[in-house]
Amino acid sequence: MLPTVPLEVMVETAKQTFSQRYGEPPKWVVMAPGRVNLIGEHVDYNDGFVMPMAIERFVVIAAGPADGEGDTLQVYSDAMDDECTISVGAESAEELPRWGQYIHGVLKEMSDAGYAAGPLRATVHANVPLGGGLSSSAALEVATATMVEAATGKSISGPEKAKLCQRAENIHVGMPCGIMDQFSSAVCEADRLMQLDCRSLETKQVPFTNPDVTVLIINSNVKRELASSAYPLRRGQCETAAKQLGVPALRDATMAMLDKMSDQLEEVVNRRARHVISEIGRVQEMASALESNNWALAGELMYASHDSLRDDYEVSCEELNLLVDTAHQIGSGGGVIGSRLTGAGFGGCTVTLVESDAVEDVATRIAQTYQTTLDIEPTLFTTRPAPGAHIVEG
Ligand code: GLA
Repeated sequence: MLPTVPLEVMVETAKQTFSQRYGEPPKWVVMAPGRVNLIGEHVDYNDGFVMPMAIERFVVIAAGPADGEGDTLQVYSDAMDDECTISVGAESAEELPRWGQYIHGVLKEMSDAGYAAGPLRATVHANVPLGGGLSSSAALEVATATMVEAATGKSISGPEKAKLCQRAENIHVGMPCGIMDQFSSAVCEADRLMQLDCRSLETKQVPFTNPDVTVLIINSNVKRELASSAYPLRRGQCETAAKQLGVPALRDATMAMLDKMSDQLEEVVNRRARHVISEIGRVQEMASALESNNWALAGELMYASHDSLRDDYEVSCEELNLLVDTAHQIGSGGGVIGSRLTGAGFGGCTVTLVESDAVEDVATRIAQTYQTTLDIEPTLFTTRPAPGAHIVEG
């Protein structure tokens, strides 16, 4: 099991890297976390409900003013061991490395919204696994926006930051993501799960402090190429379904409406809609299950979510299915409460709720089965709900 590096230690490392590179200490240090979604997958862009929490994996940026004029950022990433200089007004960001393009998109959107920070230099220190479905890019975006917040001295609300970052990803990176990831990184709170209504953006922060239940995240360490093309395809199929059902978004449809129209919808569109409508229902059931401490029901809902993502939405893969099936086989007798894929799918991670005293044993058993069956080493860690993005110093 991977150890968790405390935020304070990451902050110190980021500060040291900055001082070593630029010969003076940073003026500001900011952080933004990755997230794991407990339930409510592929429903954010259908105006549905989701239930994520921030994880103890962070992007920390140390920053300070730089010489010169205009909105520029000289930035070094220690994970990439790469530096680039971003000119916010530049027509194109194509010459930047991919990670720099994410930062550029946010700086551009923020500058257009009236948050121009002037010349800056920064170092990025991060440990959110890349491409693991834990929102490493949203964390980088929201950390960038928080750096701008610190440098301009203008406070920006979490929801506003999230919307600017989502826009940046939609427009500048070309990924038509929903609001969940950026919103989670910006708005989640320590020791809380966040129930988010992706239409109204209303949130309910639900205490999640039961010491007997642990969140175990398992990275399959595979990523299917299909992910980038399948996501917009699914979104399109949902829009088609909503249009044919005569509703603004699938949030407004019911299973009865779908059943009535099912012979007029293309078979695949029908199944996509069935996933979304049933998943939105499961999030609401999950909320009541957690309120009444009904962990058995919470677990059933997670397995049902996975089945629906595998069969109706078709975003799972052999590796994720093996991780979830193994957890399910260990079952409540062995301390597993529930398990499912988390994030967009096609590889990445599963999220498993485990009784705390069984977590080492469960982790070892799942890792062994995965490695012997597929000859791939998974990575595993546990996490408590972490705080959302904020200015740490400055
Ligand atoms: C990605 C997107 C989110 C959401 C999830 C699936 O993480 O960025 O907006 O759609 O997939 O739930």
